[in-house]
Amino acid sequence: MNFQQIAVTDLAINPFGAIGRDWMLVTAGDEQQANTMTASWGGLGVLWGQDVAFVFIRPQRYTKQFMDAKGCFSLSFFDGYKQEMGVLGSVSGRDKDKIAEVGMHLTMIDGVPAFEEAKLVLILDTLYTDEVKADKFLPAAQDMLKWYPDNDFHTVYVARIRGAYVKC
Ligand SMILES: Cc1cc2nc3c(=O)[nH]c(=O)nc-3n(C[C@H](O)[C@H](O)[C@H](O)COP(=O)(O)O)c2cc1C
Repeated sequence: MNFQQIAVTDLAINPFGAIGRDWMLVTAGDEQQANTMTASWGGLGVLWGQDVAFVFIRPQRYTKQFMDAKGCFSLSFFDGYKQEMGVLGSVSGRDKDKIAEVGMHLTMIDGVPAFEEAKLVLILDTLYTDEVKADKFLPAAQDMLKWYPDNDFHTVYVARIRGAYVKC
């Protein structure tokens, strides 16, 4: 494994750019079977005395089944790979081996699948999940419901950062 563990306090990424602009891959499963999907919503921070990441996953994502079954997942960040992430974010792993199709490779880090091509990987243990609810948006935020024409409300996953790994 050509990754080296670092302290989260030494992370050099700006989450707004790394997640919102450059995107990330959310990956879960095991050595036998794993799946991944592109995500551009989420964040990094501190909650319940833990360093955490949070992601928002719609119920129909195949990756969600692996996240729920395992209770852990990874976030992989890249330099580039936007075209590949475009495919991984529009094709479902239910329908084809999309990881092979884009020519990328899984690697296990601390028992969790992540991407060999990543510049940074966060290994995460889920602490908390909840579903976004339409009636919880405040009156001034009703516009946000435009994201849910099909009522496929996200599940939010708050996960403890077990380890941060950078490419050596
Ligand atoms: C740039 C981009 C960002 C995305 N962000 C999210 C996200 O934050 N949450 C989500 O549920 N889906 C998101 N998606 C959609 C999933 O990546 C997409 O539906 C994917 O094909 C699901 O794959 P799966 O069924 O194999 O899990 C995003 C897609 C793209 C292209």
